[in-house]
Amino acid sequence: MNVLGIETSCDETATAIYTADKGLIANAIYSQIPIHQKYGGVVPELASRDHIRKLLSLIDKVICDAGLTKDQIDGIAYTSAPGLIGALLVGSAVGKSLGFALNIPTIAVHHMEAHLLAPMLEENKPEFPFVALLVSGGHSMLVEVAEFGKYTLLGETLDDAAGEAFDKVAKLLGLPYPGGPAVAKLAKQGNKKRFNFPRPMTDRPGLDFSFSGLKTFTMNTLRAEGDDAQTKADIACAFQEAVVDTIVIKCRRALEQTSLSRLVIAGGVSANILLRQKLKQMAEKHHAQVFYPRFEFCTDNAAMIAYAGYLHLAQGQQDGLKINVHARWSLEDL
Ligand code: KG4
Ligand code: ZN
Repeated sequence: MNVLGIETSCDETATAIYTADKGLIANAIYSQIPIHQKYGGVVPELASRDHIRKLLSLIDKVICDAGLTKDQIDGIAYTSAPGLIGALLVGSAVGKSLGFALNIPTIAVHHMEAHLLAPMLEENKPEFPFVALLVSGGHSMLVEVAEFGKYTLLGETLDDAAGEAFDKVAKLLGLPYPGGPAVAKLAKQGNKKRFNFPRPMTDRPGLDFSFSGLKTFTMNTLRAEGDDAQTKADIACAFQEAVVDTIVIKCRRALEQTSLSRLVIAGGVSANILLRQKLKQMAEKHHAQVFYPRFEFCTDNAAMIAYAGYLHLAQGQQDGLKINVHARWSLEDL
């Protein structure tokens, strides 16, 4: 079975082909970051319009790269939620229409389910059950994954997502979008002993996150301490340390609470090096194993969509002709 994956939920247009026998055989991505950068964040209407411009040629590209023709595609998987409605509509409409024209099944994929399955594309892949930490621009959540399709939400963010906090703090520091990589780069020049920022919601039990107070704390520190280059680097460093420590503490609690020993990290923030280092230290101490997707599959991509879609199609699931896209969709409803 050859499955074409389509991802257009935010600011990346991506396509991929996953096959039953050879695994991932083609993968293409076009990033809209240069389009949105001058606005300091994603402009939804510009995102939708650019997906329309790029998607068809990216579909042709992966089919050609895979050495296939269109009639050798057996199924199409597209992201239908969560994400920007206009952007999701582009991938869904194209995926469904192509499926109808080729007379093959199509399947709507939950973007966060695809993120948490992304480490399965690696050689060193986790076995079920595991705890998944999903940290992206739109989500921060801890999920207990009993098996494929069986998800229990352990905790989530009450306000800003971890990636969103990085993006907002980057803006305060005058850094470009996306903020995560920019803050991490500036933090390397910072002195981590100068400031000690709060680790939100770690002084009480529970697995929920809240990052908006930390963002305000960062803003107030910047106002009080001035904004010379070294101070900005020190603030970037203190902020990153606080976010990372908070996430690591919650991951340790999630492992303890579920008595599981495998942790899967996915979503854009899982590309953060300090987070990877500190999770590794925590895991070694607690005899747990941590699994990540390769860097390019931490952020949005279609390889994870093709793979998640393949698993659903292989179970005989497929959707009808109605186009359903949602800004929100609970993982527990899958
Ligand atoms: O999963 P993703 O590509 O898109 C969403 O579905 O949101 O995640 C993008 C988010 C952005 O907020 C970006 O700033 C953050 O991931 N990010 C990082 C790093 N790389 C990307 N955050 C911290 N450190 C990084 N190295
Ligand atoms: Zn994502």
